[in-house]
Amino acid sequence: MQSLLKISNLSRSFKHVSGLWTSYEKLAYGPVSFTLDKGQTLAIVGESGAGKSALVRTITGLLEPSSGEIHLKGQPILSLTSQQRCSSIRMIFQDPSSSLNPKMTVGKILNAPLQLNTDFDAEKRDLRIKETLKLVGLLPDYLAFYPNMLSSVQKHQVAIARAMILNPDIIIVDEILATLDISLRFKIVNLLLKIQKIKGTSYIFIAHSMHLIRHMSDHIVVLHAGKIVEKGSASIICDSPQHEQTKFLLLSHEPDYRK
Ligand SMILES: Nc1ncnc2c1ncn2[C@@H]1O[C@H](COP(=O)(O)OP(=O)(O)O)[C@@H](O)[C@H]1O
Ligand SMILES: [Mg+2]
Repeated sequence: MQSLLKISNLSRSFKHVSGLWTSYEKLAYGPVSFTLDKGQTLAIVGESGAGKSALVRTITGLLEPSSGEIHLKGQPILSLTSQQRCSSIRMIFQDPSSSLNPKMTVGKILNAPLQLNTDFDAEKRDLRIKETLKLVGLLPDYLAFYPNMLSSVQKHQVAIARAMILNPDIIIVDEILATLDISLRFKIVNLLLKIQKIKGTSYIFIAHSMHLIRHMSDHIVVLHAGKIVEKGSASIICDSPQHEQTKFLLLSHEPDYRK
């Protein structure tokens, strides 16, 4: 079966200046290869600086790869228009308080991707916005609210609605839960799982809590210093980790309520 997303030998390096006239290339991650299927969740775990954000930013098109290829539904991603790519892969950023424009109402925030990426008329956009708000559990009254009028969970709900508004195949979630306490984290995770069940969305999920990752992932990729040191089914990796780094991550990320 063809994978929804196929990452082949992808890598990215950055130029670092080391002196007045000298610079060197430092690998942020890679080469890495993995696949993601429809309706599945892949977690990328690893210590800070392992290359997780650089990797997912390359997948969304925010960063150019230094080498390797990305295929979406069998097509090289470079053959897609930026609208096709944007509609298919959406990212939810680390901190919704800073990623939601404080000067725009929720209605405007949700309207923007539809205006940019679809030819929907105003009525069709309105319908999609209301459907999506309902999907994330917010009443239509919130359309007139500004981000500073929302609680932190509601900001996450709006960020999820913005990511879902174009009905994407894949949503990438980069450490969005770090600022929430444990019960609210589960609320957001359960919302993401509900959306996955209804819409068949695939997720690439970066989070610190291995407990949450086990709860919501089908597969796990363990990154260490930019390289994949272990990958496989979430239950096998969590129950019998092989690599020292995986063991370390499992030990150091006990559920918060046990700490
Ligand atoms: N824009 C950038 N310019 C230079 N180096 C970068 C840039 N983005 C990431 N890096 C480097 O790539 C490596 C991986 O970073 P990152 O992907 O942010 O790690 P993680 O998300 O796993 O904490 C780090 O060494 C970081 O310094
Ligand atoms: Mg990161």
